[in-house]
Amino acid sequence: MPFVAPRKIRRIAINTGGGDAPGLNAVIRAVTLSANNRGWEVIGIKRGYSSLLGGDPCVVLSNTSVRGIAHLGGTILGTTNKGNPFETYITFPGRRRRLAAEIIVEELQRLQVDGLIAVGGDGSLSIAHGLMQMGVPVIGVPKTIDNDLSGTDRTFGFDTAVSTATECLDKLHSTAQAHDRVMVVELMGRYAGWIALHAGLSSSCDVILIPEIPYDMKKVAAHLRKRKKGGRPYAIVVVAEGAVEAGGSLVFAEAKQQAREQRLGGVAEYVAERIQKMTGQETRSLVLGHLQRGGSPTTNDRLLALRFGAAAVRLAEEGKWGHMVAYKPPTMSSVPIEEAIRTRKLVSVTSDTIMTVRELGVCLGD
Ligand code: F6P
Repeated sequence: MPFVAPRKIRRIAINTGGGDAPGLNAVIRAVTLSANNRGWEVIGIKRGYSSLLGGDPCVVLSNTSVRGIAHLGGTILGTTNKGNPFETYITFPGRRRRLAAEIIVEELQRLQVDGLIAVGGDGSLSIAHGLMQMGVPVIGVPKTIDNDLSGTDRTFGFDTAVSTATECLDKLHSTAQAHDRVMVVELMGRYAGWIALHAGLSSSCDVILIPEIPYDMKKVAAHLRKRKKGGRPYAIVVVAEGAVEAGGSLVFAEAKQQAREQRLGGVAEYVAERIQKMTGQETRSLVLGHLQRGGSPTTNDRLLALRFGAAAVRLAEEGKWGHMVAYKPPTMSSVPIEEAIRTRKLVSVTSDTIMTVRELGVCLGD
């Protein structure tokens, strides 16, 4: 039996899904306080939807239980990016095999949940959208360090990831210079170059390679040779994990190639080897990896996450089910979840940030 969006809300649930992003706990705190202060009960679902599928039980989130968490990284509810409930079947002892999504809908009904606040990136929001089509009243909150969700100017977690990456890139300058080396650094972001572009520009890197601009190794090598000739035989090259050589293809981590879902990884090593061969300069590569997702959210992310959480509860109160909170500076607004997940938000190659990179003489590999 499908849900009927409630007139009067008594109880909402919240979950966090997909890769974690700094600011998740701030969202949980804001949702909990805003809802409890309206007299609604808040239930926290653990590890994605696992509490509804036989995992750790749900927790009731009181104002006390979310005290002192806004500045903490990770998520007190846990998260997972495994097991899409629309592709997973579960058999409880003595019961027939069921689609996990059906069980989730039934469990939410059994718990008398009037609405679900789903905090996630495109994967988790696609699942939330599917549940909505099965009748669950859903509000989405955009989360991803990649900043690649459409419909919102920013996602929380992005600012922290960029700050961490910038700090690390800053540190590489001295060692690169001391050894006259080229350091090639791989940053996260999946198929979008937001993190690499913003961190690379902020930390005065010499080459920035992003998925939106296919790179030409000849151009990269020529830029580095010219730099060396000009008296600077060292350089920092930032490469987004989803960057692609013109006419080439994405680089996936070898060990993970057999995995069901291919994961990006290894492009820095590839670029570093090519640079060393083409320029003769000593080159090293490193992958910053999950450090970009770790630690406390920056003040900006904390604020954004708190505002997202409070706005999500406001949307629920207004009955705007099926919408995702969206940041359209300077205000909070909303977009249909369907719209937010339809296309990936990529870096515009005509944006002023890209123009700035070019005007500062940084090589984009084209
Ligand atoms: O989407 C966030 C993100 O950190 C990407 O930038 C990265 O490609 C991916 O998640 C890594 O995922 P996992 O947690 O599976 O290693």
